[in-house]
Amino acid sequence: MAFPKNFLWGGAIAAHQAEGAYREDGKGVSTCDVIHGGKRRIAEILDAKTIRENIENPRGYFPEHTAVDFYHHYKEDIALFAEMGFKTFRTSIAWARIFPNGDDAAPNEAGLAFYDALFNECLKYGIEPLVTLSHWEMSINLTKKYNGWDSRDLIPLFERYVKTVFARYKGKVKYWLTFNEINMTFHLPFLGAGILVDDPAKKETICYQSCHNQMVASALAVKACREIAPDAKIGSMVASMIAYPYSCRPEDTWEKIEMERKNYCLTDVQALGYYPAWLKNYFVQKNIKLNIGPDDEKILRENTVDFVSFSYYSTSVVSTDPAVTSIKGTGNLLGGMKNPYLKSSDWGWQIDPIGLRVALNFLYDRYRKPLFIVENGLGAKDTPAPDGSINDDYRIDYLREHIKAMKTAIEVDGVELWGYTTWGCIDIISASTGEMSKRYGFIYVDKDDDGNGTLERSRKKSFSWYRGVIASNGEKL
Ligand code: BG6
Repeated sequence: MAFPKNFLWGGAIAAHQAEGAYREDGKGVSTCDVIHGGKRRIAEILDAKTIRENIENPRGYFPEHTAVDFYHHYKEDIALFAEMGFKTFRTSIAWARIFPNGDDAAPNEAGLAFYDALFNECLKYGIEPLVTLSHWEMSINLTKKYNGWDSRDLIPLFERYVKTVFARYKGKVKYWLTFNEINMTFHLPFLGAGILVDDPAKKETICYQSCHNQMVASALAVKACREIAPDAKIGSMVASMIAYPYSCRPEDTWEKIEMERKNYCLTDVQALGYYPAWLKNYFVQKNIKLNIGPDDEKILRENTVDFVSFSYYSTSVVSTDPAVTSIKGTGNLLGGMKNPYLKSSDWGWQIDPIGLRVALNFLYDRYRKPLFIVENGLGAKDTPAPDGSINDDYRIDYLREHIKAMKTAIEVDGVELWGYTTWGCIDIISASTGEMSKRYGFIYVDKDDDGNGTLERSRKKSFSWYRGVIASNGEKL
């Protein structure tokens, strides 16, 4: 049998894409509450000017404000996860529910009580909560006052928040993640780190500074977790971006190495405890001067993560040859060249199950730490049949092929993999587009892109398929 007996099968969501109730029970306005004033791709709207306008004068429909109202439906939703046999459920804590302004002196009891109830509900069914401390949101006050993670002032504020939740949920939560897709700060600084960059010339320095601040905060979270909740495991989280060289031109392979090492340099620090040599040289060459505290290096060195988690959706193709780089991308979140050997999703993200085996081996070879796939799935349009059923065979095919790749990585390659949580196990708001119609779930939620719908939940065909996968521990695909 390939999958270990205690393999953690489950699903994943993030607070801001699911909960709604954005001002309820004392929650502060978060960075994610001011992003999608309309149906546009994040990458197109995340300029500082638009975000400032959305903060000062919000206009239009902001889907995260109501999302799929998980805040009020969590009991029903967790019962459905339990029906599928989930062993784990990944969600995040909205920092602004606990500290509405980010820098409040005391936590908001109503926010803490909500997650108590949520985790209790999971545990009632034997589902282990897997909790992300920071999944692309924080109080907007932290952006306004400190420019988000650009400021070292956020380190002690984050430390206060994590110590509060570790003390409150110790014994209940056994798996923690620090920052979701930490490497996305380079690509989407506001989404990833609450930073507004007005001067493009300063973008690189600001991003590296804010990543450094997050890594120190991440290491301090590891330290606090070990002190306060020593039975728990705490991991990092990276958006895996395996790159294929377009050709066997040596330059293309070098391009692949450069892209990958930039993508994983933050995980290198979180897992190994120090900056890679190339990056230190790069800082010197580029005259990037970071504000590094006297204890930072020690903190990073002494508090590396227990495991490395990652999201996997796609791979990319790189080249330095102008004749091929001019061939335009596929719609992958961050663009890139089209891989002619792969099919694409409705949103143009290329589907590559073997790439998951590559990613698992790449990360295991690099870190020799247990791995956890905490996001994977197919964002697709689901059209209910006249009888209301949703026959999402395309989603089943996608997941089946990716699970086969995981199985090979465990069975043949010897990768230590702790678990697998599919992304958006119930339909939620898309992070990149703000759409409801980009659906990942086993559970359909009746809501459209403009916010209309009954919020009624129904089981898709993939629901019973995934139940069979979990019941057979990955044998029946
Ligand atoms: C990951 C994020 O990058 O991709 C999630 O951690 C996000 O928050 C997921 O939802 C899928 O992206 P999208 O844009 O399809 O929602």
